[in-house]
Amino acid sequence: MDPAILIFNTALEAAEACGDRILELLADARNDRGIATVAVSGGSTPRLMFQSMAKRAFDWTAVEIFQVDERAVPPDHDLSNFRMMRETLLSRITIDEPRIHRMRGELPPAEAAREYTDDIRRVFRLGEKELPVFDVIQRGMGPDGHTASLFPGEPLIADRAGIVAALHSEKMKQDRITLLPGVLERARHTLCLVSGNDKAAALREVLKGAADPMSFPSQIALGKSIWYVDKAAAARL
Ligand code: 6PG
Repeated sequence: MDPAILIFNTALEAAEACGDRILELLADARNDRGIATVAVSGGSTPRLMFQSMAKRAFDWTAVEIFQVDERAVPPDHDLSNFRMMRETLLSRITIDEPRIHRMRGELPPAEAAREYTDDIRRVFRLGEKELPVFDVIQRGMGPDGHTASLFPGEPLIADRAGIVAALHSEKMKQDRITLLPGVLERARHTLCLVSGNDKAAALREVLKGAADPMSFPSQIALGKSIWYVDKAAAARL
């Protein structure tokens, strides 16, 4: 199945549409199963999306919100994905604190990854070796085609058994904690939000190029993904 590609005039329109679709999918999941689970990305692109979601009259009851990845920094650090999400979304909505699942970047990365794996296992009531099925996973894409904290050439791109891992990105000079491909592939709905002309070349490779997720990790779960992109990022499609 080919990915669905929705092209918007501006980054704001793409962000609003992606955020609105996430809320629709969460409401459907809660109606179907009494609970909704979502994992969202960090970086800068989701800021507009989170700000838009926070303005919507949405009931966050029974929504469990997780992180796709995090930098190994404390939650008040400028680089913290959680800080960005707290400032643009969590501080502006009514949601039960225990349903906010933060990757604890202040811990040694491997310990943070183990702890997050245990948290996911508890919430999803997973058996041994079982992987979670998120209702929604929202991902971004870097100019190099990375997604989550899976950068080109990262051996963990081949991991289909694990849930969360810690890794060091030489390129970013950062330690990271990230959901793994096996989890990304199982999401009921994968929404990728990409904007800016610096993403145009990678987006073309990811969406139109040969299948090569080791070089273009954003191709993980490509067949069942929906792409919310602005015209600038779509310039090479
Ligand atoms: C992170 C993100 C990462 C992000 C891309 C795009 O921790 O940086 O989770 O995967 O989605 O790097 O980042 P921008 O939105 O800043 O372009």
